Amino acid sequence: QAGVFTYDPGFTSTASCDSTITYIDGDKGELLHRGYPIDQLAEQSNYLEVCYLLMHGELPSKDEYEKFVNTITNHTMIHEQMHHFFRGFRRDAHPMATMVGVVGAMSAFYHDSTDIADPRQREIASHRLIAKMPTIAAMAYKYSIGQPFVYPRNDLSYAANFLHMCFAVPADEYKVDPILARAMDRIFTLHADHEQNASTSTVRLASSSGANPFACIAAGIACLWGPAHGGANQACLEMLREIGSVDRIPEFIERAKDKNDPFRLMGFGHRVYKNFDPRAKVMKQSADEVLDLLGIEDNPTLQVAKELERIALEDPYFKEKKLYPNVDFYSGIILDAMGFPTSMFTPIFALARTVGWISQWSEQLADPQLKIGRPRQLYLGEMARDYTPLEER
Ligand code: SDX
Repeated sequence: QAGVFTYDPGFTSTASCDSTITYIDGDKGELLHRGYPIDQLAEQSNYLEVCYLLMHGELPSKDEYEKFVNTITNHTMIHEQMHHFFRGFRRDAHPMATMVGVVGAMSAFYHDSTDIADPRQREIASHRLIAKMPTIAAMAYKYSIGQPFVYPRNDLSYAANFLHMCFAVPADEYKVDPILARAMDRIFTLHADHEQNASTSTVRLASSSGANPFACIAAGIACLWGPAHGGANQACLEMLREIGSVDRIPEFIERAKDKNDPFRLMGFGHRVYKNFDPRAKVMKQSADEVLDLLGIEDNPTLQVAKELERIALEDPYFKEKKLYPNVDFYSGIILDAMGFPTSMFTPIFALARTVGWISQWSEQLADPQLKIGRPRQLYLGEMARDYTPLEER
């Protein structure tokens, strides 16, 4: 058949890869990080401990944990020269645009951690990225609202530091509520890694060319931005607001089922999960806790979300297509209640996913078998033919 090639299965491709980091059973709705179920990690662990687990394969001892936390805590500031980099963006730039630019430029400031052949430099780059992503995300936010940057503090936890850098202002003392910090830390944990999703595969493909770690992570941030992927949390909250009230839900459910309508229920469905996304269950509990704490239990957006979930899960179409809420369905409600604009939802996802990208990047580089990444294609175009001069066409 013209144009159809059988290709030599002999060459290595990054179309698939072995990994020991994250396991997903989409039918059972199971997610394990180095064997530990995500709900146990979300309830009993914390983000930096999960970072150590993802990077090293085992939970840390007390000494290992304290050393790791100390390393991350003491690298949260960014090079002062990078502050000027932010000022090149328009104030109304989406914070994801700023993050892609600033993270991609990090190799220009941290020359001593770009040689991927040196395991020590790889480790330094990994620590720098985990430590500095909250600072970069918070600075992107502050810049977008015209407020001064707030420097990181070493006396605050990772999540509390991020909230402080986002919401503190020089004119006023901002005390981080420990329950909000716990909820923020749990959101980071729930987004830490997720097997070979689009942005992680982007990072792996970039790393297979030998690109420096900052360039690889910037590529992952760019891919995550899409509304079908990490951009869904922003799109989901905007959708819930557009629905506005429970009596408008049926109209949107019908639109989501109409093949001629491009509308999709944001926060619903998944490439892998054909059952509940286990992260969505934990996120839903956190939403109730945070809104109770903030005294906004009757949050109309949460009411619409819960009713939408109830109706969709009973609808034959969604049952047949096995569409369930995913990680993005409730996260935006919590972030909105915390005071974040929707434009900061995906930057927070990128901040949290950095450790997953880094762990997968390190695993890729440790694989001596891997040749340059080149996904396969099935050629369906024209076979060789002669050029026709313009006057004869
Ligand atoms: C993330 O890969 C990851 O792990 C990603 C992620 C991570 O942690 O990295 O989990 C994060 O990206 C979560 C997904 C966030 N995206 C959204 O919430 C956007 C809305 N969801 C859809 O765009 C969609 O569900 C996808 C893109 C996520 C998955 O699309 P697929 O692969 O087409 O899903 P599917 O094969 O299960 O769909 C089955 C059917 C299809 O219809 P048919 O072609 O069979 O007729 O259901 C339809 C889809 O068109 N469908 C939906 C739908 N999602 C799928 N119909 C209405 N609303 C939806 N949300």
